[in-house]
Amino acid sequence: MVRVKIYGAGSIGNHMAHAARKKGWAVDICDVDQEALNRTQKDIYPSRYKKWDNEIGLYTNKNQPRGNYDLVIIGTPPRYHVSLALEVLKESPNAILIEKPLTTPDLDGLDDLNKKSKNSSSKIFVGYNHVVSKAIKNVNELLNNYDLGEIDTVDVEFREHWGGIFKAHHWLSGPADSYLSQWKLGGGACGEHSHAVNLWQHISRLLQKGRVTEVTCNMEYLKDTNFEYDKLCLINLKTEKGLLGRVVQDVITLPTKKWGNIQGKRGSLNFSFEKNAGVDEVNLMNEKQVIDKKSINKTRPDDFIEEMNHIEQYFCKNSNLDSPISLDKGIETMLVIAACHKSSKLGKTVNIDYGKLISNALG
Ligand SMILES: NC(=O)c1ccc[n+]([C@@H]2O[C@H](COP(=O)([O-])OP(=O)(O)OC[C@H]3O[C@@H](n4cnc5c(N)ncnc54)[C@H](O)[C@@H]3O)[C@@H](O)[C@H]2O)c1
Repeated sequence: MVRVKIYGAGSIGNHMAHAARKKGWAVDICDVDQEALNRTQKDIYPSRYKKWDNEIGLYTNKNQPRGNYDLVIIGTPPRYHVSLALEVLKESPNAILIEKPLTTPDLDGLDDLNKKSKNSSSKIFVGYNHVVSKAIKNVNELLNNYDLGEIDTVDVEFREHWGGIFKAHHWLSGPADSYLSQWKLGGGACGEHSHAVNLWQHISRLLQKGRVTEVTCNMEYLKDTNFEYDKLCLINLKTEKGLLGRVVQDVITLPTKKWGNIQGKRGSLNFSFEKNAGVDEVNLMNEKQVIDKKSINKTRPDDFIEEMNHIEQYFCKNSNLDSPISLDKGIETMLVIAACHKSSKLGKTVNIDYGKLISNALG
């Protein structure tokens, strides 16, 4: 029986617990807050998935079981991700899934985690689940089978008012109650919707255009005594092989728009998530019209079951398979997030040097 431990009895912790139970895996959830564990049992889990599942173990961190887990999921606010991951590496599970964003934009502790992960048999993932969704797998297949010609540009936008996120956290009274309203703690549009940056990087890899080396970003921040976050984040990206494109992330757009477009000289490939409720779409176009259209029906729980299916492939220790959601890729996204804040502050392009330590990589 596969055994899973989850840190964080909040929104994502419940999604992950449900996904793992759907796969028939044993699940323990740990939290520093007994109230959060009670809320999971009495409120979040039963209201989302009809009833509480008595097989799920609930523990405060102090009483948590250790060792013998196949997968440990870190679903806490971002500022605890790295220190928890360093602790979990000592337990040596087959796999560790750290939620996005990987950490806070100061990148503290990432060099240490990166180094220790390389000496460990545990495979580390970062929770950019869109990249392993059916829609993006379909984008991958179409890119392999259809020649779009020379690629001119790639766009990805995740524009979503965060009212929906707060609806899923009904126990909070608003943004100021959460790290979400603090960009320095990993919140704001740049951290929260960093799925878009990550997808752009994934597409660049599929197109063999390499890693992002130049970031030029403009953000609009809101600040008061109890919050400081970017509500709008406009990013231009250039890669080591010269691909130039754009990412937009915000927490203000209604209705939500989550889409991407790969523009080539002979055609384009576009995708959208949840344009209509419960449907992702992928369209392949020549210069004039749609020539292949896929609609993929899915539910919110499917997003995370798909992610579990992906991670399951890596359960054998020392697996050499590369994953599009590996720690390396999460670090690349975290570097772009940090570069965005720096670029917006300085009003100039920020370069990323992958030959340097993570803490020194931004120039
Ligand atoms: N991939 C996705 O689609 C997705 C969706 C939602 C959230 N997330 C990510 O998941 C993370 C958590 O978000 P959330 O919405 O679940 O937050 P949340 O506030 O709902 O829950 C976080 C929980 O973590 C607990 N916690 C804090 N420190 C802890 C520690 N050291 N050990 C154990 N528990 C601890 C808190 O008490 C809280 O109960 C964030 O990084 C967020 O971006 C990802």
